[in-house]
This record gives sequence, structure tokens and C-alpha cells, in this order.
Amino acid sequence: MAEIRIRNTNERISNEGEVLSFLTKQNVLYEHWDASKLPAHLNDKFTLSDDDKGEILSTYDSEIRDLADRRGYKVWDIVALSEATPNLPEILKKFEQVHTHTEDEVRAITAGRGIFIIKGDDETGYFDVELSAGDVISVPEGQPHFFTLMDNKAIVAVRLFIEPAGWVADPFEDPAFVK
Ligand SMILES: [Fe+2]
Repeated sequence: MAEIRIRNTNERISNEGEVLSFLTKQNVLYEHWDASKLPAHLNDKFTLSDDDKGEILSTYDSEIRDLADRRGYKVWDIVALSEATPNLPEILKKFEQVHTHTEDEVRAITAGRGIFIIKGDDETGYFDVELSAGDVISVPEGQPHFFTLMDNKAIVAVRLFIEPAGWVADPFEDPAFVK
């Protein structure tokens, strides 16, 4: 279940219906997959073999194809990050800068946790979306955001792309953003 924190007011939204209506109003897609479908041996596994990745993709094959059919994604893969990832601090440093993309950024969390920081409308400002297994989110093209890990420092997610070049990050310098 995703939880929202609005940075300007520190207001938290954790009720599922309210999370969905808040994100919809901010043009952010939010859906849910059944996290319990994941085979138990992959629940807490963050260093994945190609076989593990294939198993995750086949577990969620119908959900992936449904999403791809509706929204035009052509390719997908698995990303896994944890403290075992070489150069994790450098990777996070690169991630933790506000940026935009020319296509939407969609992530389906299959294990662990992560957080998107997204620029909302003028009234709302930046807000955090804390994600856990089963959460599916898409940040629209052109909407400033960044992604990082949470305290557990571990996540596995399915990424879907319209074209692989679409996820190149364009830096978004924003004096309104305060860490
Ligand atoms: Fe991004």
C-alpha cells in the first residue's frame, strides 16, 4: 500500500481510496498487483539471477501484458537494488536529483520498498510516494521527480518502457525543491 507525504505540510495520506484520489488528481497512475503471487523464495531476495528475474516476469506476465496493452509499453525488465549492489551510494546520488523524462516512468514493486518524490500542482508542491510490494506507479512524461530507496535499502521492481531511450533523465533545476 502506497503512502503519501506532502512535503510542505507534512500531511500523510495512508487511506487507500484517498491515496488513489490524490495521485489521480496529480496525474500519477496508481494501481495494485497481488504481491502474494510472488514465490516465497523471492520475497526477501534482492540479488537476483537471470532465472530469478525470469521467474518474477513470468509470475506477473498477465499483469505486465495488460498494462503494456493499455499504455503502449513495448519492453520491460527487472531492476534490483540493495546494499549488495556495487556502487549503491553513487547510484543513489545520481538518482536523487530532480529530473524529467520524455516518456512516463512506470514501476511495479515486487519486493522491498522505495520512494518517489514528485512535483505536484502549484498548491501541493513536492510530495513523497512511499511504495511497497504490489504497488504500481507511473509518473507522467515531463513531470519533475526522482526515486530513491527507503531505510531498508532494498527493492525489486518491474520497469516498462515505450522505447528504451525514453528513460534518459533530463535534469530539472528547481529552486522550489528543498531536500
Ligand atoms: Fe526518473
